[in-house]
Amino acid sequence: MMPLRKPLLRALKTTMAYSMYLIPPQDSVLLQGPGSIKKLPALIRAQGVRKPLVVTDAVLMELKLLDGLFAAFDAIGMSYTVYDGVQPNPSVDNVEDAYRRYQGNGCDAVVGFGGGSSMDCAKVVAGRVVRPNLTTDQLGGYFKVMLPIPKKLPRIFAVPTTAGTGAETTSAGVITDPKKNTKYTVNDFLLHPHFIVLDPELTLGLPPFFTAITAMDALSHAVEGYIGSGHCRESDIYSEAAVRMIFENIDRVYKDGKDLAGRSQMLLASYYAGVVLNRALTGYVHPFAHKIGGMYHLPHGRVIGAVMPLVFEYYGSSASRRLGRLADVINVSHPDMSDAQKAAAFIEAIRGFNRAYGIAETIPELKESDFAEIAHSIHWECIPYPVPKIMDDKDVYAILRRLKG
Ligand SMILES: [Fe+2]
Repeated sequence: MMPLRKPLLRALKTTMAYSMYLIPPQDSVLLQGPGSIKKLPALIRAQGVRKPLVVTDAVLMELKLLDGLFAAFDAIGMSYTVYDGVQPNPSVDNVEDAYRRYQGNGCDAVVGFGGGSSMDCAKVVAGRVVRPNLTTDQLGGYFKVMLPIPKKLPRIFAVPTTAGTGAETTSAGVITDPKKNTKYTVNDFLLHPHFIVLDPELTLGLPPFFTAITAMDALSHAVEGYIGSGHCRESDIYSEAAVRMIFENIDRVYKDGKDLAGRSQMLLASYYAGVVLNRALTGYVHPFAHKIGGMYHLPHGRVIGAVMPLVFEYYGSSASRRLGRLADVINVSHPDMSDAQKAAAFIEAIRGFNRAYGIAETIPELKESDFAEIAHSIHWECIPYPVPKIMDDKDVYAILRRLKG
């Protein structure tokens, strides 16, 4: 009986991994609007939580972005603990340190407050709480938290302070292990945040370039899910809304970061794009960006902006009808155009976005000697993704050469 257990469990997990295409994740409860962060402590208490761990980074603490939240905790007399050591790419050590802080302070919920890194770290801390016998890297992969029968899961609250990653609505946390020079994803339905706060006031201080590259990331989530075969009618609605809202509002928030109405639209668009990412997954753009960004320490959205037009051009006729529909959505088409012409117009709109907001279209850091490793990583990451057209090494190399410039 025993020798069968492992293969059976693995088969069950694989089946469930692919069921991610079919089963929509649980819905989160949204708390929305300017100043909504101040309502979070009361919501946390209403869930029966006694003491949450707030997971964030030192920069946001220094900017005093959490002061409103802390004041609201104090106002209702609720205690909390803070872990502010999250690094831009959250590491295994970040998760372990935060987990120790959680256990040492008798916490019973996590609040991920910040960009994708803080929210991902908080989600994986919740995974560690459920599976105290597994190390952070052992949680990597699919459904290590929910199988077998899980212990009680802490409530997970997510508060994005950028409009781009969509991490507030995905069921995964990306963790880096600098000692092994690897990055892996902890995927599990259980890690889907239960409550999300979309407070645009928290994004008012984002600098223009950061605003642009995070918006480019959100755009890629909405479009990659739209043109892949994992899309469905519901995800299409979210994709089209996100694409329209991003193109309509990027200019105003880039030029005036304090434009609250524009920031609200961008935050909502990023959330919609995150819903698409969770339900329809990505295509080739993200595997390129993950590997290149990790290797050369470049911001995710900056690499996405360079990669996206080239990958979409590669897809050619396999994605032109869907990309053409997005050209209609943002009004860069006219009825006489063919699908291919409309798709080209949409790709040109992405290039225009890059040019307008200073996102470089080449990546001079790329080294030809790294191409084999990059291609290998892209092929592996793409295995579960419902891409419109499959690349071989030659295709990947051709794109890398164009990216190098
Ligand atoms: Fe992304």
